[in-house]
Amino acid sequence: MITGRRDLLQLLGLAPFIRMARASGLELGDGAGAQAASGTSPDVELGLTAAPGEISLLPGAPTRVWRFTGRVIRGPASTLQTLDGSYLGPVIRVRRGQRVRIRFVNQLGEPSIVHWHGLDVPERADGHPRLAVNQGAEYVYDFDVTNRAGTYWYHPHPHMRTAPQVYQGLAGLLLVSDPEEDALGLPSGAAELLCVLQDRRFDGNNQLLYAGAAASGGMRGRMCRGGGMGMRGMGGMARMMETMNGWLGDRMLVSGRVQPTLDVDRRTYRVRLLNGSNARFYKLAWSDGSPMMVIGGDGGLLERARTRRAVTLAPGQRADVLLDLSAHARGSDVQLQSLAFPSAHVGRVGMMGDTSPLPQGAPLTLMRLRVSAAQGPRVGVPERLSAHDFRAVASAPVRRVPLTFMQMNGQLDGRVFDLADVADEETVAPGSTHVWELVNLPNPMGMAMAHPIHLHGPQFRVLSRTGGSTNALREGIDDDGGIDTVVVLPGETVRVQVTFSKHPGLYLYHCHILEHEDMGMMRNFRIRR
Ligand code: C2O
Ligand code: CU
Ligand code: CU
Repeated sequence: MITGRRDLLQLLGLAPFIRMARASGLELGDGAGAQAASGTSPDVELGLTAAPGEISLLPGAPTRVWRFTGRVIRGPASTLQTLDGSYLGPVIRVRRGQRVRIRFVNQLGEPSIVHWHGLDVPERADGHPRLAVNQGAEYVYDFDVTNRAGTYWYHPHPHMRTAPQVYQGLAGLLLVSDPEEDALGLPSGAAELLCVLQDRRFDGNNQLLYAGAAASGGMRGRMCRGGGMGMRGMGGMARMMETMNGWLGDRMLVSGRVQPTLDVDRRTYRVRLLNGSNARFYKLAWSDGSPMMVIGGDGGLLERARTRRAVTLAPGQRADVLLDLSAHARGSDVQLQSLAFPSAHVGRVGMMGDTSPLPQGAPLTLMRLRVSAAQGPRVGVPERLSAHDFRAVASAPVRRVPLTFMQMNGQLDGRVFDLADVADEETVAPGSTHVWELVNLPNPMGMAMAHPIHLHGPQFRVLSRTGGSTNALREGIDDDGGIDTVVVLPGETVRVQVTFSKHPGLYLYHCHILEHEDMGMMRNFRIRR
């Protein structure tokens, strides 16, 4: 199938033009990618193209989106799973130990680069914004899958354009499996529900609305430091304020479908949840009171399952849960909901009140499961899910990282993002263990907001969570297991123990509210050679 210009050129025997296109890439990213780093041939080789497209999301006109499409060049065809009728990129399924090559082709008309969120990969495969490639260029990623079995994901990471690119549809799941997980016999195939939670706003023509401008046609409204966002028309100031708090939609989508209803059997399901929203926090629960039986988080399977009433997911975070519908009556209706919480518990950084049509904390129905008569297997929760060898390192150096928002810029430790800048205290030895103390301070106007802080590279551990006031989101926060994105609620101090990657290079840590990331609430850290 011809999926992009590159394939077409290949088909026409015009391969040299591919290299020409590549050479036109940004100077920052030479477009040659990590090719040089790879000696041996990969087990899996994929093509992944980002390009504009169209999809029918609401009754009436189709919605213009940007989307990833993929193809398997080498390796098992099951490596890619296309989600029918969804703008989301294909689900990439890899196994621990596999050597992977991904050929990313940018057909967006603006620079982009892809990041594999949660994977521990070499610098050149991590999708740092300085590696972004221009329209028409290819970037080749080479990495070994060393992560535990779990739910990871991928999304673009270009400088100051991550939020609009993800919003326009560019994101996908990346699932890692391994023998430890295989042995558990968890529900799979039709008994595995892949749920990417996103909120979007549409105009009267079913086109995505973003920061005051129609998102289609490339969403040219750039987010700039200092707040200029290319607003159009009336209400630009209010929209800008809204954007500072993170752009919220008023329609819920699950894996690219608007509030879907799924027909399910009477059996146990594995439900993989990713908060792929730009800014919205969810406090997830089942409407019928079924427990959230959590078996995994950002970094894969937990040691033991945890039964919870609700699960808080901040942007970027994942949860893997089992749902036992085996004893449900035929015709029963189970909804995945987000429970109400005060929007002040997420908080805000802007001076003006929240004018978004559906504020943080509004009660939501994300999807509906309709139980059929068909009976399937009940899968008990294994007593022990996974072996972990985490130990707190008492001697680890402690670094204090205040999180603030000043003059409309997000800051980490008093600094905003710069493509190349890295401070001494952001420089660490390969494989070294540090404690970073994330301190969520109010801004000088006294406003505080929850920030989900993400570190590229291996998962880290939460050591302690202190301070802050009563917060309804805390009930759903479970700091167990390895995570790569940690919510720091207003006023809280969260200590995380990080063992950095063994791969030297320049990596990122940032707030995963994508508008905050684009507004500079991001920094480099360097792993020394
Ligand atoms: Cu999911 Cu640096 O991002
Ligand atoms: Cu990441
Ligand atoms: Cu933030």
